[in-house]
Amino acid sequence: MTLPKTYKAIELPAYNQNTLRALLSLKLVEKSLQEPGPLELLIKMEAAPCNPSDIAFMQGGYNVQKTLPTVLGFEGAGTVVACGNELDDAAWMGKRVSCFTQKDKDGTWAEYFMAGLHEVIPVAAEMTAEQASAFFINPFTAFGLFEIALQRESEAIIINAAGSRVAEFLFALARQKNIEIIAIVRKAQTAATLKEKGIREILVSSDANFAAKLKETAHRLKATTAFDAIAGEMTGTLFNNMPPDSEIVVYGGLSGQAIGAISPLALIFKNSMISGFNLNDWILYNGQEDFEIARTSLQNMILQGEVRTSIQSVVPFTNFAEGLRTYLGNMSGGKVLFQFD
Ligand SMILES: NC(=O)c1ccc[n+]([C@@H]2O[C@H](COP(=O)([O-])OP(=O)(O)OC[C@H]3O[C@@H](n4cnc5c(N)ncnc54)[C@H](OP(=O)(O)O)[C@@H]3O)[C@@H](O)[C@H]2O)c1
Repeated sequence: MTLPKTYKAIELPAYNQNTLRALLSLKLVEKSLQEPGPLELLIKMEAAPCNPSDIAFMQGGYNVQKTLPTVLGFEGAGTVVACGNELDDAAWMGKRVSCFTQKDKDGTWAEYFMAGLHEVIPVAAEMTAEQASAFFINPFTAFGLFEIALQRESEAIIINAAGSRVAEFLFALARQKNIEIIAIVRKAQTAATLKEKGIREILVSSDANFAAKLKETAHRLKATTAFDAIAGEMTGTLFNNMPPDSEIVVYGGLSGQAIGAISPLALIFKNSMISGFNLNDWILYNGQEDFEIARTSLQNMILQGEVRTSIQSVVPFTNFAEGLRTYLGNMSGGKVLFQFD
């Protein structure tokens, strides 16, 4: 295969707290294609999703900061088209891989992505580019979070922002282990969608008596682990209304607010705790063997139809602005993917 000298990419020139302004500042740029270093793989990208972390990154509100301008995108999927000279060509060339990087380098929203060896997971031939593109971040996050509920022997778990892709995978993992779910969403429409998918206990956070309903449901089902992607006052509401000996694992900050509204009495007398979860740390802490177990198990779940990342639309990457608007207007509707073919 002859590789081109240049390729197109979606570049962020500067951080901007205002999401719309950040979006309007994005540029389609032409970059020159480099040869892979000795341990690098050149990926011809097929698809890449937009995640909440990409939005937070554009706003300069994420824990990852890069040298600007930079090509956006933390994950995606594509095929290996060139290998570093210390790598086995036969093992890599033509393989479809999922990619993930948070390093200070160009990201995945581009026709080509230069990956380090630990930034790719080879996927099964039957895995579609669409599912592979959203495989590395959310499914593994759900897997890592769910391990906490298992270790804590919780009979039920609480999931907020439950219209999300992480929640989709948590639902599937909980179903496998017969663990009850309490799903919290902020829109009646999302509640209706989850009901159609068979989720029984759904609470809408904008309901007037939300806290009382949460308390009743969490105590009745003995929900002692909560996965919180929202933070702000939501964390306090969870903390104050969960049974004693509970843990809230904060893994997202979608509210953009500091954690608050925690009752001091609950803090003193309930023997409960709030912890944090970060996928990168989970991968580093658990090591290669556990990662392989997670990879095989998640991939099998997808291939056997137990779960999939919902995708609401696939847009040519040159229409990135339209794609981002669609995603921001209806995040619960599923991922918007940029297509690079
Ligand atoms: N810590 C980690 O390592 C890690 C790894 C992966 C993901 N995450 C986090 O996991 C969360 C879910 O990611 P995802 O890609 O699965 O999301 P997603 O599929 O894009 O969906 C986002 C969900 O969040 C809801 N939401 C957005 N803003 C909200 C707010 N202010 N209050 C309540 N709900 C809100 C949306 O509901 P509407 O439709 O109502 O807007 C939607 O259901 C994000 O916070 C992400 O950053 C963390």
